[in-house]
Amino acid sequence: MTKPYVYITRKLPDDVVDSFREKLNINMWDSAEESVPYKKLLEESKKAEGLVTMLSDPIDETILSQTDTLKVVANLAVGFDNIDIESAKKHRITVTNTPDVLTDTTADLTFALLMTTARRILEAADMVKKGEWEHWSPLLLAGSDIHHKTIGIVGMGRIGEVVAKRARGFDMNVIYHNRTRKQKAEEELGLNYVSFDQLISSADFVVSLVPLTDETHHLFNANVFSHMKDEAIFINASRGKVMDEMALYEAVKSGEIRGAGLDVFEDEPISADHPLLTLKEVTCLPHIGSASLETRYQMMELSLNNILQVLEGNGPMTAVD
Ligand code: DGY
Repeated sequence: MTKPYVYITRKLPDDVVDSFREKLNINMWDSAEESVPYKKLLEESKKAEGLVTMLSDPIDETILSQTDTLKVVANLAVGFDNIDIESAKKHRITVTNTPDVLTDTTADLTFALLMTTARRILEAADMVKKGEWEHWSPLLLAGSDIHHKTIGIVGMGRIGEVVAKRARGFDMNVIYHNRTRKQKAEEELGLNYVSFDQLISSADFVVSLVPLTDETHHLFNANVFSHMKDEAIFINASRGKVMDEMALYEAVKSGEIRGAGLDVFEDEPISADHPLLTLKEVTCLPHIGSASLETRYQMMELSLNNILQVLEGNGPMTAVD
């Protein structure tokens, strides 16, 4: 029996992929760093039964409508805003993502970003490494406290709950806003549900964990930043397009808010001459929320298992609803 053809849009480690070769005929794009060109993606999707895709691959109506072979797209991420879900439904193509396996790791990074920004860790480390540490002084690199402050989490999904748990460990007051209330988490973690406006105006740390949708596009805009406390720090570990980057730049530069910690950007990679990169109060990371070795390996295995399950006629393990 011929094995189903599966295309992976980045070079993944052989030790993960090889264990699936017995059942799947797998081909990969030959770079781990560079995205597959759109033309090649389109060409491959016309002959593959399964695609493993990255969050940087646009899986749009053109791709989904021009294939007679494709049955499943496994996105190597929990977010799936790069995929036209309506179109996939229309063409009866299953879409899967990688929830759960990355929850703790992404929550760790979100909290690390908060701590790094609040305590000015990058500025401090840079000073030492550049040989610029000349004196101890009473206010040298004095940042903001984290303990006993109020963290406001916008988007209380799986990752939000674990960030809340981390925050409780630091004696923080946790408030949140979400489309639906999370009674169980409220009881178990001592969270308080508030309106979006209340959260924005009372949190010391405003943390975005909302997915990118039409409603959340530029949710964090000039008006919202202007209602935050002067000492507020904005953290974004979800998707870049939920914030208006230039409005954030203006808010930090003018002192309307104290700083920001960003793992995501409107366009990724962010261009080296972007004004946000000039601000010492803004910590910028290259979208590494789920990037621990353990978690990335689990995400790759889960994606390939999802493909295998669907192509063997079983239900997917983690389908996007
Ligand atoms: C995801 O899985 O959506 C994350 O953004 C990847 O780090």
